[in-house]
Amino acid sequence: MSSFQTLFTKMEDHTLIITINRPDKLNALNQQVMKDLDAVMDRVYKFPEIKSVVITGAGLKSFVAGADVKEFESLSKEDATALAKRGQDVFFKIEHSPKPVIACVNGFALGGGCELAMACHFIIASESAVFGQPEVNLGIMVGYGGSQRLTQRVGKGRAMELVITGKTINATQAMNYGLVNYVVPQTELLDKAFSILRVVHEKAPKSVANSIKAVNAAWNEAENGYDVEAKLFGECFTTHDAKEGITAFIEKRKPEFKGN
Ligand code: COA
Repeated sequence: MSSFQTLFTKMEDHTLIITINRPDKLNALNQQVMKDLDAVMDRVYKFPEIKSVVITGAGLKSFVAGADVKEFESLSKEDATALAKRGQDVFFKIEHSPKPVIACVNGFALGGGCELAMACHFIIASESAVFGQPEVNLGIMVGYGGSQRLTQRVGKGRAMELVITGKTINATQAMNYGLVNYVVPQTELLDKAFSILRVVHEKAPKSVANSIKAVNAAWNEAENGYDVEAKLFGECFTTHDAKEGITAFIEKRKPEFKGN
């Protein structure tokens, strides 16, 4: 995989590890990072050898400390609206990836960093992780989907408190809020993700992709999630992997999924 200016990428056991690599700026999301994330996700969609993705931040201190505030200095209303829209589009691409995307949050996940983590399918946090939407401290507000995804993940009351106070929460509180699935020591972050992804990689890719779509449909008011689920369930039955899975169960053997 050719290199990106602001990302370090590495394939391991069919998982693409994407490390946001601006540690001296606490991995703040400037426009180049957003461009690179968009481009790398295109590859995730395209290449069958990539079965899953992990997103993390370089260094021990920060996952992503937010959008790059230095790029905000001279934005007009129109510029800022367009910037939010572009960011939302990139995060939408992550959220709707047909392959699982896990955020391994290794420190600060603030502002756009918290929004990026929430765009991933789920979050594993290190014990030192800190989450929050501190945009109000700058006289602005969430803009990369945070008002919607935080509300979906932690409920209206908690989301409202976080976005209007700008207060941060630690990993244990994030776990209690249901924002993260696991809290582990920093050194075990990637291992935890891999232990989950190994299980997912054994499944039929179509089952996984359609399951992701169906869960995402629960949050899309434009479509009826139950109808979407029924359609996706039906689609699975067109695959050889479904035939193999069902036959293997009946024959009391382990299925061998081939991805077709
Ligand atoms: N945008 C741009 N640069 C950022 C940044 C951001 N969101 N967050 C951190 N940085 C930069 C700092 O400017 C500093 O760069 P410098 O060395 O060139 O001055 C570097 O990263 C280290 O940050 P620093 O503030 O010195 O680290 P700290 O440990 O004292 O504080 C934070 C860490 C996360 C509490 C603090 O950096 C912070 O509040 N960041 C902004 C968080 C935020 O408001 N995010 C939402 C933005 S919309």
